[in-house]
Amino acid sequence: MKKLGVLISGGGTNLQAIIDNIENGNIRGRIELVVSNNKGAYGLIRAQRAGIDSLFINPKDFSSNQEYNLKLIQEFKARKVDLIVLAGYLKILSPDFIKEFSNRIINIHPSLIPSFSGDGYYGERVHRAVIQYGCKVSGATVHLVDEGTDTGPIILQECVKVDDEETVESLQRKVLEVEHKILVDAVRLFCEDRLSVEGRQVKIL
Ligand code: GRF
Repeated sequence: MKKLGVLISGGGTNLQAIIDNIENGNIRGRIELVVSNNKGAYGLIRAQRAGIDSLFINPKDFSSNQEYNLKLIQEFKARKVDLIVLAGYLKILSPDFIKEFSNRIINIHPSLIPSFSGDGYYGERVHRAVIQYGCKVSGATVHLVDEGTDTGPIILQECVKVDDEETVESLQRKVLEVEHKILVDAVRLFCEDRLSVEGRQVKIL
């Protein structure tokens, strides 16, 4: 049974999708720990309700992002996690963290990477940029995390149509639905040992 560690910063709807799919048997894994950098993250409540170990670790308690990440590494290694899931996590991971969990960190991004991704593209900003550009499709991407921002090998993507009268809120709702779906699929495939990574190519076995 694969052990999962989840990092959150906000509402935790992606976390909830994973919790629900573990409970219904779709994902054969177990969330060992949920960590938030934000004390008020509703995702912490979701974890507690599901009986999952959860921690608020305050970056302000550490002298640097590097020191903060060493604490994260320590907590996840203590629980022997096999996969780290960034589920709406808004802080940058340190090189130490990326190295420690190389090819075992996945992130969900609310656009079709490489469009509207990278520094400054998160949350509503993504959907606003998509609409302002006049795109006809958008979507979500699950990818492995490497040293860059949203630059790791892509695991899964799925599109949504951008309608003429689309608003940021309506597009965010559409994309969030797809995020939940493909994040759950990616975690499920990892737990089934069905992801094969060769360079930038991620194959599903
Ligand atoms: C969402 O906007 C999603 O696009 C991104 O993080 C935000 C919060 O997600 N991945 P969640 O509801 O906290 O999972």
